[in-house]
Amino acid sequence: MATQIRTAPESTDPLDPNPLDVSRAELWSEDRWQEPMRQLRAKAPIYRCEDSKFGPYWSVTTYKPIQHIEALPKIFSSSWEYGGITVAGDGIEHLKEGEMPMPMFIAMDPPQHTAQRRTVAPAFGPSEIERMRADTQARTAALIDTLPIGETFDWVERLSIELTTDMLAILFDFPWEERHRLTGWSDALGDIESFDTLEKRQMRLAKAFEMGAAFKQLWDAKAQNPGEHDLISIMLQSDAMKHMSENEFMGNLILLIVGGNDTTRNSMSAYAYGLHKFPEERAKLETNHDPELAVNAMHEILRWQTPLAHMRRTATEDIELFGHEIKARDKIALWYASANRDESVFPDGDRIIVDRENARRHLAFGYGIHRCVGARVAELQLTTLISEMQRRRLRVNVLAEPERVHASFVHGYRHMPVQLEKY
Ligand code: HEM
Repeated sequence: MATQIRTAPESTDPLDPNPLDVSRAELWSEDRWQEPMRQLRAKAPIYRCEDSKFGPYWSVTTYKPIQHIEALPKIFSSSWEYGGITVAGDGIEHLKEGEMPMPMFIAMDPPQHTAQRRTVAPAFGPSEIERMRADTQARTAALIDTLPIGETFDWVERLSIELTTDMLAILFDFPWEERHRLTGWSDALGDIESFDTLEKRQMRLAKAFEMGAAFKQLWDAKAQNPGEHDLISIMLQSDAMKHMSENEFMGNLILLIVGGNDTTRNSMSAYAYGLHKFPEERAKLETNHDPELAVNAMHEILRWQTPLAHMRRTATEDIELFGHEIKARDKIALWYASANRDESVFPDGDRIIVDRENARRHLAFGYGIHRCVGARVAELQLTTLISEMQRRRLRVNVLAEPERVHASFVHGYRHMPVQLEKY
């Protein structure tokens, strides 16, 4: 691979002294991340940001170097001990008051990662997906049929959150009438901006304990009376997971809940927002109900949205990376949101093109040994939404700019006023 350019672009805006610090939450909540990422891709695809609220970190913004790094997990670690998988973490040596390490297998390296992933992976395999298909379709259809036509409502609240929460409750066999608690826990625990102050850290921890207590009850119930398909029964029956410490138990719950919730939710919101922004692409889906086009559109929406903007790795040794001297313990942010707009792979990547030839090459699920274990479940949910909307000949019109998540990790929407129309 060609050596990357070493020099960093200079800031020309005195009001914005660090325009290439793409970890700043406001770039994401104000939807202004695209231009700095474009500059980084063009001029410094591997770039060291010396000063940020998360300390110094490297940004990797193009497609191939991200794949390269993810293929070397021994050198580029995911471990929670070094700070885990977001740019926020500083590792167990630097824990702040009110922070508690929560090991989870996304933030582990082999061999621990391998064993725990292997335990839960079958719950997301092709035969399980087939088992979930009819129920997903029925639930999606029933929910869409409750939505008003020609009246304003919040798509995030009424559709995206509802569908993803229901799926999560099913995966865990969580008490159905209490399932909305999952949403609150997921929002609080996936928020990397909540590490700022002691008060926020304590609130976050309280949520983690509340969730841990609810799941401990479920765990005990499943130990007495195991189910066949739910994730807790699967974990309980596995050697790799049945002896997890309490922290590890909570960590893995957070992983499965945040992993499966905010991400899928935001891809469903992106379906509404993205197709509203590109009406000529929406028209293709309205006139052509070929299921293969719906599947391709699903991949393209995932590429365009990239519900997790980055994952982070930590260097375990000093190493040269395409001409850059990376030091042991340096933080490296892999910006999937940018790689999914890499001009050399996805021409005109800022646009949604529902029949884009290589849409499925997106990196929204990551790459390598940590590639999203729940990808098939997410794909099933999003494709089902597209098809059920087509079947009812329903179009979503977005009435105002959505309110976005204020963070550089979960990339999504808090509220989105819409109206449905029949076409
Ligand atoms: C559109 C929806 C989703 C997106 C964009 C997404 C994104 C990702 C990404 C980027 C990773 C890679 C992490 C890394 O390389 O460090 C990942 C891993 C993971 N995801 Fe997802 N995810 C989605 C849905 C789900 C669902 C539905 C679940 C489960 C219910 C899930 C559970 C997980 C888990 C457990 C991992 C860790 C895998 C490992 O470390 O081996 N995700 N996801």
